[in-house]
Parts: sequence; structure tokens; C-alpha cells
Amino acid sequence: MSQTPVNPVPQHVAIIMDGNGRWAQERRLPRLAGHNAGAKAVERTLKAAQKAGVKVLTLYAFSTENWTRPQEEIAGLFKLLAQTLSRYTQQADKYGVRLLVSGEREPLPPAILNQIDHAVSSTAHNTRFTLNLALNYGARQEIVHAVNALLREDKKEITVQDISQHLYQPDLPDPELIIRTSGEERLSNFLLWQAAYSEFYFSPVLWPDFDEAEFERALAAYRVRRRRFGGV
Ligand code: IPE
Ligand code: IPE
Ligand code: MG
Repeated sequence: MSQTPVNPVPQHVAIIMDGNGRWAQERRLPRLAGHNAGAKAVERTLKAAQKAGVKVLTLYAFSTENWTRPQEEIAGLFKLLAQTLSRYTQQADKYGVRLLVSGEREPLPPAILNQIDHAVSSTAHNTRFTLNLALNYGARQEIVHAVNALLREDKKEITVQDISQHLYQPDLPDPELIIRTSGEERLSNFLLWQAAYSEFYFSPVLWPDFDEAEFERALAAYRVRRRRFGGV
């Protein structure tokens, strides 16, 4: 019998933070109360990831499809985002965190874009940890963005490496582990290219209840996955 593998701690963990609405609904609260509670879970998870030795955390905060939600919810989400971004930018140096934002700029309002640019440029020198926020993010749009960049370079033929190098964050390693909360088991247009050999962990926990213990369970599950990469 072959031995149980022991994978090292993943360098890059990506999370589809899902279930805020259902968390609020269970408590007869407005959906925005769920998003507020979700922002607290982000803070817990960031600390847990740093403690565990993870180097990069990508968080799916707003998808290109989330614009179909009620205007009031979108406005609330962006207000919360502005508050969170401002707090993280202020604290980033203390924790050695570099902020990255991945997604399309259109149709984000100029105020948010300025805040994003400031957050990214003023934390660029930090090297201990990378927090990559997927915001107005869609994986199909990201691949199209890469192909268009290559067309502008007049490429006649492209390689796998060419596409990888023209994604939003060409310098980040692919995520070894992708977590989705709330019991849903789908990618919802997240990291289609980068997930080619990711391990998946689907957690029944709703995002606002996600904590260090559940993050540790995901890491423990990952640790013993047999990753074959097409080999034997
Ligand atoms: C995830 O929670 C947060 C965002 C998509 C912004 P949801 O808002 O999707 O929560 P559910 O899926 O309705 O419970
Ligand atoms: C995915 O969650 C997007 C984010 C977590 C930001 P959704 O709640 O939007 O996904 P679907 O609609 O259930 O697939
Ligand atoms: Mg959802």
C-alpha cells in the first residue's frame, strides 16, 4: 500500500467567500448584515492564513456577474469594500501585507479606482504576505484580457506560458488550494485558468461563520491529498 502523502503548506490559497445572504436570512436580517459579518470573517481568515504560513490569499469579493444584484445591495457592498480597503491599507505595513486587486476596471466608479490604486501602490513594498482581492473579477474576462494584450503585441501564435504571463497577476503562483464556503460546489467564473491543478475544499460553513478552525480543516484536508498532475 502506498503511503499517505504529506503536502507542504500551500503557498497560495484562494477562497470563494459565499453564503453571506443565507447567513442573514437565517437571522431575519437584511443581506447587508451578512456582508458586514463576512467582512469580519475576512479579517479572521487573513490572520489564520498568516499564522499557518500561507503566503498569498486570493479572495473573491465581487464577480462580473454580481452586477445583476439589486442596486441597494451593490451600493452597500461597495461602501463596505471602501471601508475595508481603507482599514487594510492603513494596517498593511504593520503586518507586512501587499495588497493586489484583480479584475476589470470598467465600470468601477473613479473614487473606488483611486482607492484601489492607492492601496496597491502604497503597499507594494511589503513582502511578508500578499492579499489579492478579486473585485469585479471574471475568469473568462481575465483570459480574454490576456489574449487581447497578446494581440496588441502582434503575436501570430501563442503558448500556454504567454497566456499565464498576461493574466491580471502574472507573478503569483497558481493556487494549490481553492476553498468555497456555503456548500455550493462550483467555480462561478473564478480562476478558470489558474485552477487547472488546484485542490478543492468545499465547506458547508456560511462565510460569516468561517474561522481559523475551519481554515485549519481545509489545510489538513489539503495536506493529505494525493496530487498526481497527470502522473502515476
Ligand atoms: C457572497 O455571499 C458574497 C458576494 C457574492 C458578494 P452571497 O451574497 O452570495 O450569499 P448567498 O449566496 O446569497 O447566501
Ligand atoms: C461567487 O458567489 C462570487 C463571490 C463570492 C464574490 P455567487 O454567490 O455570486 O455565485 P453563484 O451565483 O451562487 O454561482
Ligand atoms: Mg452566493
